[in-house]
Amino acid sequence: MNPTHHTSLNWGILGPGKIARSFARDLALVAGNRLLAVGSRSADKAAEFALEFHVPRTYATYEALLADPELDIVYIATPHDSHEYWSLRAMEAGKHVLCEKPAAVNAVQLARMTSCARERGVFFMEALWSRFNPSIMEVIRRVSSGDIGTIQYIHADFSIYRDPPADHRLVNPHLAGGALLDLGIYPVFLAVSLLGTPEDIRASAQLHPSGVDAQTVATLHYKEAVVQLMCGIRSQSDMRARIYGTGGSFFLEPVWHETQSYTWLNLADGSSTHYPRPTLGKGYSYEIMECMSCVRAGLQESPLWSWENSRAVISILDEIRRQTGVIYPFEKP
Ligand SMILES: NC(=O)c1ccc[n+]([C@@H]2O[C@H](COP(=O)([O-])OP(=O)(O)OC[C@H]3O[C@@H](n4cnc5c(N)ncnc54)[C@H](OP(=O)(O)O)[C@@H]3O)[C@@H](O)[C@H]2O)c1
Repeated sequence: MNPTHHTSLNWGILGPGKIARSFARDLALVAGNRLLAVGSRSADKAAEFALEFHVPRTYATYEALLADPELDIVYIATPHDSHEYWSLRAMEAGKHVLCEKPAAVNAVQLARMTSCARERGVFFMEALWSRFNPSIMEVIRRVSSGDIGTIQYIHADFSIYRDPPADHRLVNPHLAGGALLDLGIYPVFLAVSLLGTPEDIRASAQLHPSGVDAQTVATLHYKEAVVQLMCGIRSQSDMRARIYGTGGSFFLEPVWHETQSYTWLNLADGSSTHYPRPTLGKGYSYEIMECMSCVRAGLQESPLWSWENSRAVISILDEIRRQTGVIYPFEKP
C-alpha cells in the first residue's frame, strides 16, 4: 500500500460535471481533505470549476491530472462507460480511487478493476454514498440486531421524470445509460446491504428508443424475503423505501437514498417512532470520511462497502440486463 505522507489527503477530480460539483461542495466540509486538482477534457471547463471551488491546480487532460505526483486519491466522475478505463489509469499511476457508481458497467470490468487495485496496492471504492448515510447506516445496524425480526419484504423505488436529449448520458447506450445503472442501482444496493445475494431474479423493462431501459421492475427472491424494486425516467415515484420484518418495519423517508430521517414501526406495541438524522452537507461527506479513514489505516477496500459488495450489486444488474435485453454497443461480440 502506498503510504500517504501528507497530513491531509490530496484529492483530484476527474470529469467535472454535475455530480463532481456536489462532491466538491461536501469535500470542503470534511477536515483532513484538500481538493488539490481538477482534470477536464477542456481547459476552459477545468478553469471554470477551479474558480468555483478554489482548486489550485487545473489540467486540460485526464492524463495530465493523473501525472500530478502530489495527488493521493482521484475521484472518477465521468459517465459509466469510462469508469473502468480511468480507474485503471489512475491506479496504474499509483493513486487511490473513489469511482462513481456503478464502478463498472458489468462484473467483468469490475474484476479487472479490483485485480488492478490489489496488484498496485491502492485503495479502491465504488462511490455508493448511500451506504454511509446516517439513517441507512443505522437501519442496517438495527436490522442486523433484530429490531424488526426477520425481513420478509422490501419495496424500494427510484424513478424521476426526465426527457433528456438523445445524446444525454442518461439515455445514450454508448455511455452505458439507462434507468437501471443510474437509478436502479440504489434499490439493488439496499437489497444487497440488508439481505445479500438473491437466489432468483425476475425482471422486465420498457426500453427507450435508444435501446437503454426507460423503466425496469425486478423481483429479487431470497430464502425468506422478497424485494420488489422499480426504477425509471418516465415518472416521479414517491421514493420511500419500506423494509418489512416479522417484528416491525423501517421506512427510509423520501428521497430514501439520500434520506434525512427514518421511521420505525414496532409491531410489539404498535408504536411508530421517527428518527431525524440530518446529513453533513448533501451526504457525500460520509464516503469522503470513509476514504480518508481507510487510506490512513492502510486498507485497500472499505469494510462497509467492499469489492465483494460492489461485485454482488453489479452481478444483479448484469442479470437484470440479461433478462431485459439491454446490451451496450461496446459489449456486443
Ligand atoms: N452519487 C450520486 O448522487 C450521483 C448523482 C448523479 C450522477 N452520479 C454518477 O456520476 C457520474 C457522472 O454523472 P453526472 O450526472 O455528473 O454527469 P455529467 O454532468 O454529464 O458529468 C460527467 C463529466 O464527465 C466528463 N466526461 C468524460 N467523458 C465524457 C463523455 N463521453 N460524455 C460526457 N461527459 C464526459 C465531462 O467532463 P469534462 O468534459 O470536463 O472532461 C462531464 O462533465 C455517473 O457515473 C453517474 O451515475 C452519481
